[in-house]
Amino acid sequence: MSDAVRTPAALRAAFERHVGRPATALVRAPGRVNLIGEHTDTSDGFVLPMAIDREVRLALAPRTDGRVRLVALDVVGADGAPEVDVFDVDAPHARDGWAAYAHGVAWALAEAGRPLVGFDAVVTGDVPRGAGLSSSAALELAVARAFHEAAVQAAAEGRGAAPPPWDAKAMAVACRRAENAWVGVASGVMDQLVCAAAEAGSALWIDCRTLDTAPAPLPAGARVVILDTGTRRGLVGSAYNERRAQVDAAAAALGVTVLRDASEADLAAHAPELEDAVRRRARHVIRENARVHAATEAMAAGDAAALGELMNASHASLRDDFEVTGPALDAMTEVAQAHPGCFGARMTGAGFAGCCVALVDEAQLEGFLHDVAAAYAERTGETPALYPVRGTAGAGPLDEPGG
Ligand code: GLA
Repeated sequence: MSDAVRTPAALRAAFERHVGRPATALVRAPGRVNLIGEHTDTSDGFVLPMAIDREVRLALAPRTDGRVRLVALDVVGADGAPEVDVFDVDAPHARDGWAAYAHGVAWALAEAGRPLVGFDAVVTGDVPRGAGLSSSAALELAVARAFHEAAVQAAAEGRGAAPPPWDAKAMAVACRRAENAWVGVASGVMDQLVCAAAEAGSALWIDCRTLDTAPAPLPAGARVVILDTGTRRGLVGSAYNERRAQVDAAAAALGVTVLRDASEADLAAHAPELEDAVRRRARHVIRENARVHAATEAMAAGDAAALGELMNASHASLRDDFEVTGPALDAMTEVAQAHPGCFGARMTGAGFAGCCVALVDEAQLEGFLHDVAAAYAERTGETPALYPVRGTAGAGPLDEPGG
């Protein structure tokens, strides 16, 4: 997000500049960091992510012609002007680039039976893209919320029926559908659900089968720190879908639909029939689900040390069994884990590149940020970005001072 739109007033001013009339609503949707429960959501498993104070923001006003016009303030062309995308709500088409997420959400909401009202919007945000912090889910949920506000306002002006009340879970499911069936990533529901349904000040436990959620407050005195290696990946082109296929193959061999329903004993019984890589993928998922249960108990007991140990074990499993880490993520995790102020650290998100997450003793935060950045730079020659984050609420209106 450029400084020019950091405040709600500045975002409104940017809308007027680019659209030529006042915005009638401001909306936001957060990125997320996953504390533990990685590559378990696609197996109907358990996860513990936290929505963060990095978000996508839109200023909007409804249109009357059924079109959406989006001005991407952070995607600037060679001429210095932001990229603009225009589409009819009943004819979304973009499958690539940032606009695909908006078109996909329009498609998924229409599929879910929602009548759509078009709008003008400017879009901005400070969730780094391709870093494992769910910039795409944040954009999807912000667009879904914008469609909601546009429909509410159009109805208030006598155009169309009022939409059903905002339902965070239903919106998460629709946005996941956009990601799966429109964008083409076979992802689970974690990112969209936490970006939609998180509660401020805590992480969110999610049962990815039932979509039950429960707030999970951090242990007192512990801070969550993002450790951005600066490396980036493209999720669609990555091995994500391939991992998903291996996990599904393991489930089939174990006689279950998803690995949520398999135990280590089941895996041991079928081990001889499984290819080594497939067996290790399954072992990661089964053990990671158990770690999420243990992490939930550690959080309930306020036990930062126990939670940190589980995060360390999660990383080792993602490195050795699921094989989605990589040199940058491994190096960052090692230097973070070696710091005395660190309870635990691991890669976060789909993997391969991007960010790690650490649980850090608040009293040692400044030293941790300084020492780990220096140690990582010395080890790799790269300058990382380390920053503490706070738990924020899921997608909704953007608060305006005095508003
Ligand atoms: C990506 C996907 C999620 C989840 C994670 C790995 O973020 O979008 O559904 O599978 O990877 O835990």
